[in-house]
Amino acid sequence: MTSLREAAYMVAAILFIVGVMRLRNPATARSGNQVAAAGMVIAVAFTMIGSSIANVAVLLAMVVVGAVIGTYSARAVKMTAMPQMVAVFNGMGGGAAALIALSEALQAIGHGSYPGLAEAVPGLFDMLVGSISFTGSIIAFMKLQEWITGRAISFKGQNVVNAIILVALVALAVAVPIAPQADRLLLDWILIAGALVLGVSFVLPVGGADMPVIIALLNAFTGIAAAAAGFVLQNDVLIVAGALVGSSGTILTLIMSRAMNRSIFNVLFSAFGSKVTAKGSSERGEIHPTNAEEVGMLCAYAQRVVIVPGYGLAVARAQQECKDLMDALVARGVDVRFAIHPVAGRMPGHMNVLLAEANVPYDRLYDMDDINPEFQRTDVVLVVGANDVVNPDARENPGSPIYGMPILNVDQAKTVIVNKRSMAAGFAGIDNPLFFKPNTMMYFGDAKGALQGLLQALKEAA
Ligand code: TAP
Repeated sequence: MTSLREAAYMVAAILFIVGVMRLRNPATARSGNQVAAAGMVIAVAFTMIGSSIANVAVLLAMVVVGAVIGTYSARAVKMTAMPQMVAVFNGMGGGAAALIALSEALQAIGHGSYPGLAEAVPGLFDMLVGSISFTGSIIAFMKLQEWITGRAISFKGQNVVNAIILVALVALAVAVPIAPQADRLLLDWILIAGALVLGVSFVLPVGGADMPVIIALLNAFTGIAAAAAGFVLQNDVLIVAGALVGSSGTILTLIMSRAMNRSIFNVLFSAFGSKVTAKGSSERGEIHPTNAEEVGMLCAYAQRVVIVPGYGLAVARAQQECKDLMDALVARGVDVRFAIHPVAGRMPGHMNVLLAEANVPYDRLYDMDDINPEFQRTDVVLVVGANDVVNPDARENPGSPIYGMPILNVDQAKTVIVNKRSMAAGFAGIDNPLFFKPNTMMYFGDAKGALQGLLQALKEAA
């Protein structure tokens, strides 16, 4: 039975790896999820085999409760609220990993066989990292859900206090296995309580703008904690799954930081985006408002149009209108492309997912590095609800808080149309000189209505 289970775990681990590989491409991502889910079903099923009836009953009940909650929330959540949902699920994973380690410690103490330092390391690591991930993720959720302010909540010297708590907790974790048996459970509880506090005080000072990066980082923590839980339980598939989550979370954290030209240290400790007072370039001037008819004429007679989707597109749920616009222009022989900035929107791949939802063909989606050289040869760029990712200050103004962040160089196109509702700032809270450039026109309005108006104008221009 044990070797059958080991074989099943091996199959599950392979399915997880294949699933993650398929997530690399939008065309295969959906099946990648299904492959990984099949791996999870196999892993859970073979974990139950050989267990007592009572254990199987409890496990099945938990699977049903988890499946109902998971299915409902995944279906009900709006695309714009996806980061919060990821934060909650991630926190559950971290909390579960810490509980596994605690329950193993309780059992060991019950049997009077508390492990020595080497054997205890994974469990103690699990309690520490899993608990930090649990409360850190809950705070990230509350910030994104606006249950608490998204601004950085900190006091002077908080980073130093956090560092002291972390060092004290690591020292405590080292002390547990060498402490007298009678004191060990109490020390475990103190370790968990301290780590729960650290999770809160580590995430509170991070500004709301950086929450997606923090969620990716906490995701990596949860993965590492789950892998440690795998060592505690001597369960290979948990080790593999945890390692996959840990490494992909780490890579994602680094990709997002790089796309914002920030170090992870800066993301964690600078409270970026928390102050709305940050100013961009002082360059101002006249804006050039436009309307659906004028934009329709410009697009209809262009050879190449590049559409730049941003967070506003997601808020307005205007992806279908974007697709309809693409179809209408393609029917007129216009070359239409979509330019995707790596941190457009509020989570990694946000724009790809939205456009895939509306069946925009993947070969029309261009990454930043591929589309940037094309803007000079582009007649019209239509920016829909994007702001920071097209802010030329990132390239030109060393005084700007986003200076150095790679952007889409839309200002190099012949004409730029910016659709947004007002002159309000984007997530970074700074001005955007693009709006005042002579080749930029502002097409004000909610993205959905504005694109519908544009489609109507295009029909009339036909
Ligand atoms: P933003 O810079 O946040 O700008 C979005 C713009 O959309 C706003 O200026 C807003 O202007 C407009 N808008 C809002 N609702 C709209 C609606 N219904 N219709 C039309 N326009 C609407 O977005 P972005 O350019 O996509 O940049 C993303 C930002 O998030 C960057 O600062 C990035 O660093 C940050 N961030 C992203 C990630 C990931 S992974 N995506 C992670 C961390 C941080 P109005 O209010 O005037 O309409």
